[in-house]
Amino acid sequence: MKRVAVLTSGGDAPGMNAAVRSVVRIGNARGIEVIGVYYGFKGLRDKNFRLLLPRDVSGLLEKGGTMLMTSRDEDFKEDSYQYMAIDNLKKEGVEGLIVIGGNGSQTGSLSLHCKGFPTMGVASTIDNDIWGTDYTIGFDTAVNTAVQAIDKIRDTATSHARSFIIEVMGRDKGFIALDAGLASGADIVLVPEVKFDIEKIIENIKSGVAKKKMHHMIVCAEGAVHAQNLEQMIKSRIDLEIRISVLGYIQRGGSPSRFDRIIATLFAEEAMNELIGGRAGKVIGIKDNKITHVTLNDAVHNEKQINYDLYRIIEEVSV
Ligand code: F6P
Repeated sequence: MKRVAVLTSGGDAPGMNAAVRSVVRIGNARGIEVIGVYYGFKGLRDKNFRLLLPRDVSGLLEKGGTMLMTSRDEDFKEDSYQYMAIDNLKKEGVEGLIVIGGNGSQTGSLSLHCKGFPTMGVASTIDNDIWGTDYTIGFDTAVNTAVQAIDKIRDTATSHARSFIIEVMGRDKGFIALDAGLASGADIVLVPEVKFDIEKIIENIKSGVAKKKMHHMIVCAEGAVHAQNLEQMIKSRIDLEIRISVLGYIQRGGSPSRFDRIIATLFAEEAMNELIGGRAGKVIGIKDNKITHVTLNDAVHNEKQINYDLYRIIEEVSV
């Protein structure tokens, strides 16, 4: 293999840049040219290609976002579009493709792989919702950002004896909410995977108030309920001074944590190993502290489950 391409796709995640840097430099170390594809799958159609040299990826390790740019490309679901992408890659002399992205992006990788183009996935999304990996690139940073924000909000909660609902990202999964809630000492965490009972939440708050608890911190995943709606539900049932804070895109940005920089570098190296070794069609991740891979087919067609123990423990430690 003489030439591979790399792209980032879907929501940007801290550490994507570190993964691109690793692909380019590992490729260079092994005598393989790396072509950067700009704007994700869209760049495959538009032939938005550029040869990347090791110095082109300097100063990237600590940078959030993605220097390759990204997009969510609905059109890529079409076969004609995928064949055009493969054609463009082949004309450029590219023999393999590395896709750094989340669930939706790996569905795109699978389509290309099934059409005969060697494609490798690198698990990267703040949502951490890819089956077969314990962590995805960007999740650790996003959770740390959420925890720092919740800690700060707690200062106001404590000073004013005011309760807060903090909405975090995660699309239809509760990974960010669970980890951020546990790490920030939230009293109640709502995730899409567990149907919540508003009356139980009210009882919980009332029993806290009876025990002279001055404020309650509620972390809700965007996929479980929106903060504003939950605020209305609570306010219509009890008289409680409550504020909401939607953390939003701060969770996607910023300098990647040490963990995300390391896994990004290692995932990309393993993606190159597998691609060069003729073993494409995988998603690289980490399982039990070891860099590992699952097939693209399994990653895309299985659903990753939250750790329900964390949910139970949060309930038990909040008094
Ligand atoms: O997948 C990452 C994520 O930030 C989700 O947590 C969120 O639901 C979604 O992307 C928002 O996507 P966008 O702003 O790109 O439409």
